[in-house]
Amino acid sequence: MKIGIDKIGFYTPPLYVDMNELAEVRGDDPAKYTVGIGQSQMAVPPLSQDIVSMAANAALQILEEEDKQKIDLVIVGTESGFDASKSAATYVHQLLGIQPGARSMEIKHACYGATAGIQMAKGHIALHPDRKALVIGTDIARYGLATGGEVTQGAGAVAMLISADPRILAFEDEPAYVTHDIMDFWRPVYSPYAMVDGKYSNEQYIAFFQEVWNLYKGKNQRTLADMDAMCFHLPYTKMGKKALSQVLAEADEEKQAELLAAYEASILYNRNVGNIYTGSLYLSFLSLLENSTELAEGDRIGLFSYGSGAVGEFFAGTLVAGYREQLASADYADMFENRRKISVAEYEAIFSHSLPEDGSELAIDGSEDSSAVCLSGINTHKRHYFVK
Ligand code: HMG
Repeated sequence: MKIGIDKIGFYTPPLYVDMNELAEVRGDDPAKYTVGIGQSQMAVPPLSQDIVSMAANAALQILEEEDKQKIDLVIVGTESGFDASKSAATYVHQLLGIQPGARSMEIKHACYGATAGIQMAKGHIALHPDRKALVIGTDIARYGLATGGEVTQGAGAVAMLISADPRILAFEDEPAYVTHDIMDFWRPVYSPYAMVDGKYSNEQYIAFFQEVWNLYKGKNQRTLADMDAMCFHLPYTKMGKKALSQVLAEADEEKQAELLAAYEASILYNRNVGNIYTGSLYLSFLSLLENSTELAEGDRIGLFSYGSGAVGEFFAGTLVAGYREQLASADYADMFENRRKISVAEYEAIFSHSLPEDGSELAIDGSEDSSAVCLSGINTHKRHYFVK
């Protein structure tokens, strides 16, 4: 039985900052941001968007009534959780109107959370092929104003329906994965901002990729020549390129050119959104599907997932016949086009405004946010949402 991604949907908030403008205000050469780091725009969530509303907005792009009746597993991967106890998945389950006979949970492992969710969902569907699982990666990446990591911030969510006989990607082969306890990036619960050892995190990302890639090849008797595209967790678009460059020499020139062209298609969305942590790898996969003109049914896509702390995993799947019918390129073009560019000063004001933490009440004016699901306010430490 084939198990894999049946549908995939993406949401990013309606505001963004131009990286050229951010570089100028920070006194940096814009080329450092747009070429050296490889980011053009950074998504900025208004107060009316948090990880729950973004997750629901991403899932609403793909779910039909029949799916809501068949889903009995809802997994939200996030590292931007706002509650150490209540799961973001329960809000999402309710907002989407999924039938009540479902398991719902939040998974945390830095950017690896959604991949962990997918692998759990795969096991669930193997036991219950008639059911469906909803896996969402949703995050707001925050390093702080004028920090080294600021240029890699972003916000958004990717939702995937995992099922038997999937219509987009059928997982295959044995995944390869490793865990090593390292301090490259972390966020203590008392801090709204990530702590990071930037250069070390880059080195570890590459080291984990090389380790799981070699494990994957050994386990599955595959080589780079078997891959038609490689997608990477993208904290920023240059990072995946650095990893790919490590292994390109394993293939002939024609294959190298093919993989590099696929890589360029796979970074277009991420370049204009920023790091969305758990969703970044899957946003890159979606970007590849929507923007590559070379991909064909049956092509094998390799996926490298990395979550600081750290876990690395490499797995692969093949594109299912007719997968293009499941795509929604025009909707994503509209989503990007309808975003509003804000100035660096506006971004700084939004960034510095947070929800009350003392139990007091705040009603959020979502009138400028046309997203289907918005955070409407908070009182007595409880968040409230509305669906338009
Ligand atoms: P930095 O020190 O500001 O930048 O930090 P830099 O000096 O290293 O420059 C970056 C690149 O720009 C370099 O290219 C420069 O040469 C180039 P490279 O040598 O790397 O190819 N450059 C220029 N290019 C053109 N014109 C110019 C110019 N000037 C410089 N004028 C850093 C960069 C990524 C470290 C920082 O932004 C940071 O700390 N980011 C956050 C951490 C991060 O994203 N790490 C990635 C790996 S870890 C990971 O992926 C996990 C994560 O997603 C979290 C999770 O798992 O939950 C982060």
